[in-house]
Amino acid sequence: MSNDVPAGEKRPVFAGNWKLFGTLAESVALATDVQAGVAGVDGADVIVAPSFLALATVTARLGAGGPANRVAVAAQDCYWEAKGAFTGEIAPAQLVDAGCRYVIIGHSERRQLMGETDADVNRKTRAALGAGLKPIICIGETLAERDGGTTLAVVERQLDAALRDISDADLGRSLVAYEPVWAIGTGRTATPAQAQEVHHTIRTRVAATRSAAVAAALPILYGGSVKPDNIRALMAEVDVDGALVGGASLSADSFVRIVKEGTEVWLRS
Ligand code: PGA
Repeated sequence: MSNDVPAGEKRPVFAGNWKLFGTLAESVALATDVQAGVAGVDGADVIVAPSFLALATVTARLGAGGPANRVAVAAQDCYWEAKGAFTGEIAPAQLVDAGCRYVIIGHSERRQLMGETDADVNRKTRAALGAGLKPIICIGETLAERDGGTTLAVVERQLDAALRDISDADLGRSLVAYEPVWAIGTGRTATPAQAQEVHHTIRTRVAATRSAAVAAALPILYGGSVKPDNIRALMAEVDVDGALVGGASLSADSFVRIVKEGTEVWLRS
């Protein structure tokens, strides 16, 4: 399995967001178990996102597996400045230096718990792209917004803000993850139809503001209580290109099942 996708070829993407879990030893063990588990899977991009502290060690260990079946590594966040007096922050180039190829940006936990704004998400996205990272840009509505009937407007606002001043070429290196806040870590997943409605809205918005080709090529992942037993139905939806998985990515068995079953559905449809 290679993460070097030839231009024009779209593949499903499965990313495990490990959040604030795992010692160094546990992270290396989980990453190598995932790598071994997906070694036979052809045609999908697999990403793991350990904590900052484990990134360099995990990328070094996965790299030793050889490029043919390498699982790529994402950071869970980055800062928008390249260097300077910003205590505690991590620059995109430092993530590249640690072997990362992706970075998750604007996760709802960062928006809600750390006060990240749409403007911050845009600054981080531009900085990540500038350093050569592929951003996984997270957007999604809260329960109050869904109940209030503003889901599609909220998602379009977040999308437009995140993509401001980003070229079509850079958008071609980006991924979007739709993660309804009410479905994250709650065991309550969006129905496939709910996911499809929002994914379709995202793609339609990109087609309207960019081009049909850019929109068609954009990987749109679903996130929020993805499990082995719901991945098939989600991946059967035409605009669902993969998954961003939290809790179920902390077990190699369940994450590998998600990758395998999701890829199988993708290849069939
Ligand atoms: P969950 O998390 O799969 O545990 O709901 C998803 C995410 O936060 O990316």
